[in-house]
Amino acid sequence: MKNTAYDVPLFRGLCEFSAMNPISFHVPGHKNGTVFPDFAKATFGPLLSIDFTELTGLDDLHAPTEIIKEAQTRAATFFHADETFFLVGGTTVGNLATILAMCRPGEKLIVQRNSHKSIANGLELAGATPIFLNPMFDSQTDRYIAPSIEGLAKALQAHPDAKGVVLTYPDYYGKTYALKELIDCAHAYQIPVLVDEAHGVHFALGDPFPPSALQLGADVVVQSAHKMAPAMTMASWLHIKSDFVTRDQIQYYLSMLQSSSPSYPLLASLDIARAFLASLTKQDLTRILQSAQQLKEDFAESTHWFVEETSDPLKITLTMKQGHSGYEVAALFEQEGIYPELASHKHILFIHGLGELMRLDEVKLALKRIGQRLKISSNHATIDISGLFQKSYAQLAYTYNEMRMLPTKRMRLEQSIDYIAAEAIIPYPPGIPLVLKGERITNRHAKLVEALIKKGATFQNQYIQTGILVFEEK
Ligand SMILES: Cc1ncc(COP(=O)(O)O)c(C=O)c1O
Repeated sequence: MKNTAYDVPLFRGLCEFSAMNPISFHVPGHKNGTVFPDFAKATFGPLLSIDFTELTGLDDLHAPTEIIKEAQTRAATFFHADETFFLVGGTTVGNLATILAMCRPGEKLIVQRNSHKSIANGLELAGATPIFLNPMFDSQTDRYIAPSIEGLAKALQAHPDAKGVVLTYPDYYGKTYALKELIDCAHAYQIPVLVDEAHGVHFALGDPFPPSALQLGADVVVQSAHKMAPAMTMASWLHIKSDFVTRDQIQYYLSMLQSSSPSYPLLASLDIARAFLASLTKQDLTRILQSAQQLKEDFAESTHWFVEETSDPLKITLTMKQGHSGYEVAALFEQEGIYPELASHKHILFIHGLGELMRLDEVKLALKRIGQRLKISSNHATIDISGLFQKSYAQLAYTYNEMRMLPTKRMRLEQSIDYIAAEAIIPYPPGIPLVLKGERITNRHAKLVEALIKKGATFQNQYIQTGILVFEEK
């Protein structure tokens, strides 16, 4: 990394305050780390020393004018946004606040169907009327990728009163698509586009990464700084660059949804993560990309899987051959002390960070051992997930307001066919609902869930094994 002092006004401000060794008669109760159990002090101590509250000179996230404002302005400049907000509730809170700001109860939003659950939750909280754009199935990767431009054009023609469009770019696996065409299509109707770019914060680094959503004209972009940049978990950015969206409404909902005591270590980690990205040189990037390429080549030596081509060179997806399931193979990696990001029935995703991988030799040895063990098992039934969506866009069976009033019951999944789901069915990760609350459950859904559970998938529905919540009337 470039050996220059990092330009981090928020982090520096916290360190300078801590260096004054202030006497704390305020919250938090750990009193700058002095009131804390000994057994955990060594681990938590350094962070607690900057875990302050809104003291004089330390600014306030909800009305920033000092060091938080300076740090946010630095981030906006780096990402080429008009304005950047620091988030301490992840991309989740950015999605929720933007959706609440985009529409009033009953108003329509056009939304990519294969979105993260935070988007579905935002729609419900807002009482929006979602028009879901169904994604196209990509038989090469055996996954649903993005909605088509034709699908969006049709949905806009049929619903010209829609207040905005909500898309996700890239997907979890680093796959991108012609986002600009979709954004231009929405802008022709003078409506804003929110892009959930949770997995694409590093696209701001430029070539060889794909263009970022902001570059492609998105109005609001939410990014998990903790996913691909080195910020702490829950730290995210929300950027605005728009003629169609006003910052005031978004700030209003962020103030409502975010804690009144946001964590300063989290906020400082956003300042540091931005400075880290800004400091990466061409040479740094070359080394990082060589390391990712080497890892890819090592993975590619196996006969048990293909290494997928993706637009993002830091995402390495293995597609299983010979009927192995992604879950089963991921478990073998974990037994070797190697933890991938996620597994599905068919894939395993490895995320190479923005640093060189120093333990490549250990990975190589583990790959050899996994290869030997895998030869023994084979020939599991494959799961066909294609053809789930018949139309290019669709609506829910009830409005969210109606759903609030309707009685529900819990039923075994195989008996719930043709009922309307009163809760989403969400395989996790990746957290994209297979059935949305308000969608009709089909025989295909039930069979898929059963097959996925058999393969080892986990669901965020606590009671999925015993039943699913549905509305009483079919
Ligand atoms: C596409 C997408 N959007 C949003 C989120 C939520 O992000 P966060 O964990 O930062 O709240 C995730 C989490 O995995 C995600 O995959």
